[in-house]
Amino acid sequence: MLSDQRLLACAEYVSGRGIACDVGTDHAYLAAYLVKSGKCGLVIASDVKDGPLLSARTTIEKYGVSDRVMLIKSNGLDDIAPDNVSDVIIAGMGAELICSIIERADWLKNGVNLILQPMTRAPFLRKWLCQNGYEIDSETAVKDSRFFYAIIKAHYTGICRTPDAVFENIGKMDLSDDISREYAKKQAQRLLKAGKGMLAASGGQTNAAIETAEKIKKLLEG
Ligand SMILES: C[S@@+](CC[C@H](N)C(=O)[O-])C[C@H]1O[C@@H](n2cnc3c(N)ncnc32)[C@H](O)[C@@H]1O
Repeated sequence: MLSDQRLLACAEYVSGRGIACDVGTDHAYLAAYLVKSGKCGLVIASDVKDGPLLSARTTIEKYGVSDRVMLIKSNGLDDIAPDNVSDVIIAGMGAELICSIIERADWLKNGVNLILQPMTRAPFLRKWLCQNGYEIDSETAVKDSRFFYAIIKAHYTGICRTPDAVFENIGKMDLSDDISREYAKKQAQRLLKAGKGMLAASGGQTNAAIETAEKIKKLLEG
């Protein structure tokens, strides 16, 4: 019933220990899949807009899971009751928005498993998580036509740190996995291109982006 590799990879990281909350559910495909597959007994599917919630209703009725998927209108997690929520999925949004949603929900610090899939600026999200006491447990990359997506599993530890540039760019990607390797390669290429541009503009000084790209390439070789 769910063919989207990106959402399937998110589902893979859901613990199923309690209620899962899919923030920005839109069509509720993930929410419906989580109950239909037996991974979760109950899912909260929330969205800030009425249109997506209408489309979510159509999906959960189609799959006969209206009794196990609660639809809630909420800006981020602002109107979600934290009771028994074990997993929070925030997928398909920009990194800055994901960070602001997490920042406003202090209860996420109580052992909630976070599954995050930024559409943009994954390095920004990784850095923010590390600097704000969230530890990245693992990551996986998904390729959809020519786009790569990072799916990040994290939880709060309270230990704040500033990650190095390599971690910012490839996080905890498992480099023994082909798609994660491709993801890392792509990040190195992007950094190299950006670095070369900056190098040309700055008149030839050494450049941090190029150094990071070289370090990622070395990791891939080793
Ligand atoms: C691109 S869709 C992603 C849908 C689904 N999560 C996925 O990954 O396929 C983004 C959804 O997030 C919702 N959204 C945007 N900002 C939000 C916020 N602050 N709180 C809750 N939902 C939000 C939008 O209304 C939209 O339905």
